[in-house]
Parts: sequence; C-alpha cells; structure tokens
Amino acid sequence: MKDEQVRELLYQALETEIGGVQVYTTALRCAENEDLKEEWEKYLEQTQNHVSVVEECMQKLGLDPNEETPGRKVVRHIGESLVEAMEMALAEGEPGAAQLVATECVVHAETKDHMNWHLIGEVVKKAKGEVAKALKEAHEEVEHEEDEHIYHTKGWSRELWIESLGMKAVLPPPEEVKNVETAIGAARAEQARTDML
Ligand SMILES: [Fe+2]
Ligand SMILES: [Fe+2]
Repeated sequence: MKDEQVRELLYQALETEIGGVQVYTTALRCAENEDLKEEWEKYLEQTQNHVSVVEECMQKLGLDPNEETPGRKVVRHIGESLVEAMEMALAEGEPGAAQLVATECVVHAETKDHMNWHLIGEVVKKAKGEVAKALKEAHEEVEHEEDEHIYHTKGWSRELWIESLGMKAVLPPPEEVKNVETAIGAARAEQARTDML
C-alpha cells in the first residue's frame, strides 16, 4: 500500500467533512420541507462529528490536521463552489428552487464523502497495526451514516424534482421510509416508488 496516498485520502476526507458542515449549514437555509430539514439537521450533526473522528484518527497516526495538500485544496474549492451555488439560488428567491439546488449540492458533496469512507474501508482490509486499528474504529462509526446521507438525499432530490414538475411524489422518499443503507436497497426503493404513490 502507498502510505503517502493513504495520508492524502485522510486529508481529503477531513476537508470533505469540513466542507460538508458548510454545505449542510447553507442547505438548511434552502430547505422548505419540514421532514427534509429534520433529516439535514441530523446529517449536519453527524458531519460535525465526522470532522472530529477524522481529526482524532490523524492525531493517532501523527498527522497534522492543518497540513495543506494540493488535493485538499481542490476539495475545498468544490465545497465552496457548492455553497456559492446555493447562495445564488437563495438570492433569486424563487420558491422551492433553492431547495432543489440544495438537494443536488448535498448529493455532490456526499458522493465524495461516501467514496472517501468506502476507500477508507478498503484500506482497513489491507492495512496493519496502528493504521488499521485507528481507521477501523473510525470506519465502523461513520460508514453507515454516509450510506444514509447519499442514498436518502438522492431520493429527496428525485422526489422534490418530480413534485416540482407537477407530478405525484413520494415524500418522504422511499429511500428514507425503507431506511436504505445500500446501493441495491436504493435501487429497490426507487423501483418501489410507483407502488408507494
Ligand atoms: Fe461525513
Ligand atoms: Fe456524509
């Protein structure tokens, strides 16, 4: 395993979580649906905790959480761009529009977040000693929450878009009702949506 790239993954994971806090804070200003607000408030809290989890991991491994890396800068730039996109939609003031933008921005942010933790899980399988122990604990605590973040928000994005198009939507989305935590579960939930209308 390439230790240097494992460190890079952790720096990017930390930056993704820090950006995630900003993304959810802004997304909550865009949210209008009460169930969605409740959901995102929970995800915001979990994401704040993920920042601490990654920082603790880094401390255990002797890494400085403030170190800058080129990849980390890119992750920060994308996070800031997502916040800016939501601010643009909020400034337009069109009812419901900022909420749709926010669901898409959260899906973008969570796609990276979800992949980081998936990759950390892959590292755990091969790593040894100190690294394996630190990452395993963190992974066990966080990974299932990341599944929820991405699959449920994808459901919200799709259903709120369907509603905005003037069609009947399943709200809260099937992914949330069925407590989906896997890709196959998400596919099944989406397939079942017509029966849930
Ligand atoms: Fe996270
Ligand atoms: Fe997340």
